[in-house]
Amino acid sequence: MEFENVILGKEGNIGIVKLNRPDKLNALNLRTLDELNKIFKMIEEDSSIMVVILTGAGDKAFVAGADITEINKLSRQEAEKFSRNGQEIFSRIENFDKPVIAAVNGYALGGGCELAMACHIRIASENARFGQPEINLGIIPGYGGTVRLREIAGKSKALEMILTGDMIDADEAYRIGLVNKVTPHGELLDTAIKTGEKIASKSGVIIKYALESLRVKERREEMENESRLFALCTETEDFKEGTSAFLEKRKAQFMNK
Ligand code: COA
Repeated sequence: MEFENVILGKEGNIGIVKLNRPDKLNALNLRTLDELNKIFKMIEEDSSIMVVILTGAGDKAFVAGADITEINKLSRQEAEKFSRNGQEIFSRIENFDKPVIAAVNGYALGGGCELAMACHIRIASENARFGQPEINLGIIPGYGGTVRLREIAGKSKALEMILTGDMIDADEAYRIGLVNKVTPHGELLDTAIKTGEKIASKSGVIIKYALESLRVKERREEMENESRLFALCTETEDFKEGTSAFLEKRKAQFMNK
């Protein structure tokens, strides 16, 4: 199968999925999301892969968010579908029955932070930066970020990050439990592979049971609520202003409307 924006590599029994739009800081447009989904379906059926590593191409970004050029055009109805689509793909990853390790090699913002949070383990390089900057665009997170960040980092930190839109560095991400480990930039992939190999040396069937036992069973109501509120944002003038300001490379002037 031909993929444009996602590369699947292999190292022994570790599958390495690389998001590959470095000129756009690996921003997730719909095509990339669709390819990511298809690659995870392929990995599901590939018994030679026991553990998956997810990372970004280039030195700058894991994923700098959902693609703002696509968000900017959404109507309320489309926005709800857009959010549900991303949530479903990320839930497939969260509920995957092979361990998924995010190797965060730079910016993990918006949908990028949400994608990392859907993975089972997060390893970050020293130059990783995490954030939910949607508020600066006149929206809220829509790919499960309001739900998973609260779960992983606690309500206070989740609210602080979502309301200020500020980024945190790798050390702070470690301190708040958002990442499992921080490595020097050049050692990130090796560290992720070593962790993957250690897990892959265990029994695959027992790993499945462990993943299932830690799985959160019911998120439907919270996710639907997030999608509904994400979509509501698109009816405001501040949403148009925030997303347009980013695309026009200027600071947004919110009107509170
Ligand atoms: N969607 C679409 N395009 C994006 C993007 C996104 N989320 N993030 C970055 N890009 C694009 C930029 O528009 C730019 O494209 P161009 O070269 O065609 O102008 C390119 O990627 C490089 O980004 P740039 O902003 O020039 O890099 P920088 O080093 O100055 O800044 C960031 C890096 C991450 C701080 C900045 O790109 C940013 O704030 N991105 C958006 C983050 C965000 O709000 N994410 C949540 C989205 S819901």
